[in-house]
Amino acid sequence: MSKIIIAIDGYSSCGKSTLAKQIARELNYIYIDTGAMYRAVTLYALRNKLLSDTEFNEPGLIDSLDRINVSFSYNSELNRSETFLGNENIEQEIRGIEVSSHVSRIAQVKEVRAKLVEIQREIGGDKGLVMDGRDIGTVVFPNAELKIFMTAHYKIRAQRRFDELQAKGDDVSYEEILNNITSRDNDDTSRSENPLIKADDAIVIDNSEITQDEQLKIALRHVSNTLTP
Ligand code: DC
Repeated sequence: MSKIIIAIDGYSSCGKSTLAKQIARELNYIYIDTGAMYRAVTLYALRNKLLSDTEFNEPGLIDSLDRINVSFSYNSELNRSETFLGNENIEQEIRGIEVSSHVSRIAQVKEVRAKLVEIQREIGGDKGLVMDGRDIGTVVFPNAELKIFMTAHYKIRAQRRFDELQAKGDDVSYEEILNNITSRDNDDTSRSENPLIKADDAIVIDNSEITQDEQLKIALRHVSNTLTP
């Protein structure tokens, strides 16, 4: 059966990666989390004092881009793909509130986006890929055979994220998460470079009121319609 590209875009913390991983597992496709790539660049900028709460040395970051090496490696013990910065596994660190609260600034930089989009297109060259992000169906793969746009009520997203981080033992309040989600929604939709918008030909899944199983069934129905129209 021929392989396709499945592009999943949508708001922060609405379960894009959960759905993308499930679809990839069902179809035996590769899954790529493009948010992790923006998070990795953010971690680099924070560590190298190019970015802080008050300052951003954007030209310095642009100069460093050739030295920032982001990649993924499959961890068979944990059955998941993990993000690397150079040789270092940064999967845990990029999910924390420090990176989450600075990543929008990095995602606005044209040169950062150009570099990451180029890598994403290279990875997708052979199809058989599920990729999630904000601009996958609009910019990275505008010809993707299937595009899904995901959304959920912002308070439901914040509660899910809060529960997830609490379970991991992160010391973070619900209000902090809610503020982070609403400000990232705003940043994602209002930035001038590749803002988050629904592609005209994307199907919409609002998972505010449905379970992960129901959501997967809906998505797989669209996959099979795409594979055998
Ligand atoms: O999906 P995520 O929350 O891990 O993404 C982190 C940030 O990166 C998010 O605030 C927006 C940005 N992003 C982006 O601008 N374009 C993408 N393709 C993926 C993520």
